[in-house]
Order: sequence, then structure tokens, then C-alpha cells
Amino acid sequence: MSFSVDVLAKIAIDLQSDIGHPDRFARLITTLREVLGCDASALLRYEAHQFIPLAIDGLAKDVLGRRFTLAGHPRLEAIARAGDVVRFPADSALPDPYDGLIPGHESLKVHACLGLPLFAGQNLIGALTLDGMSADQFDSFSDEELRLIAALVSGALNNALLIARLESQNVLPVTSISYSEPAAQEIIGLSDRMLQLKKEIEIVAASDLNVLISGETGTGKELVAKAIHEGSPRAANPLVYLNCAALPESVAESELFGHVKGAFTGAISNRSGKFETADNGTLFLDEIGELSLALQAKLLRVLQYGDIQRVGDDRSLRVNVRVLAATNRDLREEVLTGRFRADLFHRLSVFPLSVPPLRERGDDVLLLAGYFCEQCRLRFSLSQVVLSPGARARLLAYGWPGNVRELEHAIHRAVVLARATRAGNEVVLEPHHFQLSDESGVADIKLAVLSEPQNLREATEAFQREAIARALAANQQTWSAAARALEMDVANLHRLAKRLGMKP
Ligand SMILES: Nc1ncnc2c1ncn2[C@@H]1O[C@H](COP(=O)(O)OP(=O)(O)OP(=O)(O)O)[C@@H](O)[C@H]1O
Ligand SMILES: [Mg+2]
Repeated sequence: MSFSVDVLAKIAIDLQSDIGHPDRFARLITTLREVLGCDASALLRYEAHQFIPLAIDGLAKDVLGRRFTLAGHPRLEAIARAGDVVRFPADSALPDPYDGLIPGHESLKVHACLGLPLFAGQNLIGALTLDGMSADQFDSFSDEELRLIAALVSGALNNALLIARLESQNVLPVTSISYSEPAAQEIIGLSDRMLQLKKEIEIVAASDLNVLISGETGTGKELVAKAIHEGSPRAANPLVYLNCAALPESVAESELFGHVKGAFTGAISNRSGKFETADNGTLFLDEIGELSLALQAKLLRVLQYGDIQRVGDDRSLRVNVRVLAATNRDLREEVLTGRFRADLFHRLSVFPLSVPPLRERGDDVLLLAGYFCEQCRLRFSLSQVVLSPGARARLLAYGWPGNVRELEHAIHRAVVLARATRAGNEVVLEPHHFQLSDESGVADIKLAVLSEPQNLREATEAFQREAIARALAANQQTWSAAARALEMDVANLHRLAKRLGMKP
């Protein structure tokens, strides 16, 4: 079989309609899957020596959070270097980045695999990968046909990247377009809450406003502060960090504003403070809620007048510093109880950003899990780290009081545990590898399973009930969303729930 003009026209039209629509690439991938009859496909963007999945089909959801470095993925490196269609031999020894990530196919030892590099002029901007379970699946397509598809997709991807750049140009003039500037650590997440936050970060970064970043512990406030600085006109100047909680009252003023020789015992020379170091750049005041009222007053003065005084010095110095502050306290509440100055609060919170807790980010849990799995894979030189369907359900159902940091540690610990008992160089994370801490965690799954005297079938059913209940709880009791979380067809989930006595 080869492509008809109709098929190519459909692909071209798919790509050109709704040019800015986020689902466009997902639709394209689905069309390709139908046309080419592949079992899994992915469209990846290339940036800073890594491939970033933009749309996937037939692959586990966590792939969207994985970042595939060239150095860590010889197959992708081959595609990046080839400059043309790459057909991997069915028994290729190069590990496949999607091994274990195609639901229902645990091993990709022998399979058909195609890679199409995507270019804008001479620049590599992405790749399209196609996997098929039978070895000769793509033999009927000629290189010419595949090149044509690659050309269509390249054009669309390049347009999308240019549009994204235009939309986010802010005030920064873009003199040349580089496709591989090194990225600051990326904020992973595609949930509505996170897309909204990223938009706000982009807007506020371009302004010179002070920003108050609030959110529970481990939600990523520091990452947000870095992103604001990186996206701001001050990016080339320093981002200076100061943790207010770690400041003993006695040295705090000198830390912030510096001191002159002889200002106090031990002041043996002049020293500049964080405000001076951050001149023309950004000062990140972490845990601002811990600052004493006396220092709050001094900080307010700098924000109002833009000048500082070193301890022991009468003269004042002008500084040009943008302040980003973070807190996991409710500062509004602190203002009401008199522990935080209202005037400082208002100065800082001209543009408040609130980083949502992980439990309100839906499937982002899986994306982040995939991101951390990939990091662990590299760190421990493993060929693959994947989540079993049970582990995914477990992660989605858990409440994550410690947010992203807790998830990062949980994946790390699970990999260490699983690695100890693994057979080869691949690690599959199972629910029992996660020791999650809240009361509704593993403990009562065990209880539910063990409290009744059980044979294997009853134990399995108890576990299934538990997993379904958790998936429902994590998805506002919506069956379709719970089915997606469990990677099941929704009709099958309804049937299973009925059989388990969870539905009339
Ligand atoms: N969206 C995200 N994508 C990728 N990594 C993230 C994300 N959010 C947080 N992290 C990672 O999680 C960890 C915790 O993030 P961070 O230190 O920014 O949290 P925090 O809100 O400052 O926490 P705390 O209030 O405890 O200081 C870091 O390792 C960070 O890189
Ligand atoms: Mg922090």
C-alpha cells in the first residue's frame, strides 16, 4: 500500500486548519496512525540537545513529561544525525525510548521503527517517530512518501514554533531565532492550572513588577522565580537568592544591605549585601513570611525609594533591583494577625502568583512522574524506567501533601527499591515500590486486602475496588476520567465496577 493524494491532502489540511490550536498535533498524530497503520507514534520538538514530546498516540501518558536527551537515547540520536528517513532494522540493538511505554506491549525487542527528522532550513526542529509491532509493517512505504510527510509536518511545526515565539515575544527584541538555546529547568505540566500559571509567568516576567509567589511546600515556587527571571529583560544580570528563614536576626540586616568596616564587632571590612549584588538583576527572597517586623520595615523602604544603607553608613546607595518573594504561608492571614506588614504585603503582591498544589493538577502527576523516571534512568544508567498501570493509578489517587518534591523523592526511592530486585537493566515501578505517607495511602490498601480472609480472586477484587475508588476520587468521581487514569476503556470500567459491586 502507498498513500493516495487524498491521504496526503488530508494530512496537509489537518495541519493547516486551526493553526494555533493546541490539539492540532494530536489530531495529526492520530491521522498518521490511521494512514500508516502504526501502533505508536510521537511528534517531538528538538531543543537544547533534547527531544520534547508534543503529541503522542498509542503511548503511555507519562511520555509527555519525559525529556529525551540525545546523549541518553542512541536511537533518537541516530534520527537527529541522519538528515533523512531512518529505518531501524527490526532486531536493532539500539534501545527504543518507548520500550515498555506502549500499553499492552511490554517488550519492543523485535518491531518496526521509523524516524523522520524534521528540519527548518538547516536546523533540526523535531522528529516524528513511528513504531509498529510487526517487523515488516512499514516496508510498503517508500522513502519518497515518507519524506513528503516529513516535509508537511516540518512546515507545520515550524509555523507553530514561530507563532509561539511571536506570541511570547513580550518586549524583548528577537534578533535571530535560535532553535537550541540552553533551556533553564523546565516547568513540566499541561493541566489547565499550570498552563494558566505559565501564561501569567510570561506576562509578569516582561514587566518589572515585584511578584509574590505563594503555594504549598514543594509546589515549585523556586522554579517559578527562576522562570520569571529568565524570561525578564534582567535575565543577563544576576538572580540572587536569599532564604529569609535561615537568617539569624543579628546578621539579617547586614546580609540584605551590607555593612561598613567597624559597624559592629566582627565587621572587619566593608561588605556589600544581597541588594547590591543583585543590582540591575533580581533578588529572590524565599520564605519572606519569616522576616521580622523590623526588617520588613527596612525592606519596605528599599521598595519605596530604591535606596539602601549599609549597616554603619549614613550615606545611601541607589540600587535597581526587582524583588521576587515566595511564601508557603497565607500572608493575607499573617497581615490580619499583625505578623506581616500590610504595606509591605501590598507592595509585594502587585502581581500575586499562586502555584497550585499537585493534587489539583490532574494528569500532570503522570507527566512529572515520567520526567523524574527519565532523570533516574540517566542517573542510574538504566535502559528503561517505566510505571506499571497499578503504579500510575496509585500516583494519581494519592494526595501529595509534599507536592512535586514528594513525587520526585517517591520516584527516586521507588527506582532504588525496584533496581535492587530487577532482572535486567530495566526497571518497572509497581505500586508496592511506593511508600506514600498519608493515612489513605498504602496502609489501607493492605488493610482492605488483608482484613477479610481471602483467596487470590477476592484479594485481587479488593485491590481493584480500591484502585477504582481512588481513581474516581482523584477525578471528581467522573468515570471517563477515572478510566483514562486507569488506562482502560470506559465501557470496560463500568462493566468491571458492576461486577465488583461498586455500581447497581
Ligand atoms: N512543574 C515542575 N516541573 C519539574 N520539576 C518541578 C516542577 N515543580 C517542582 N519541581 C521540582 O520539585 C522540587 C521542589 O520544587 P521547589 O524547590 O521549587 O519547591 P518550593 O515551592 O520552593 O518548595 P518549598 O516551599 O518547600 O521551598 C525541585 O526539585 C523542583 O525542581
Ligand atoms: Mg523553595
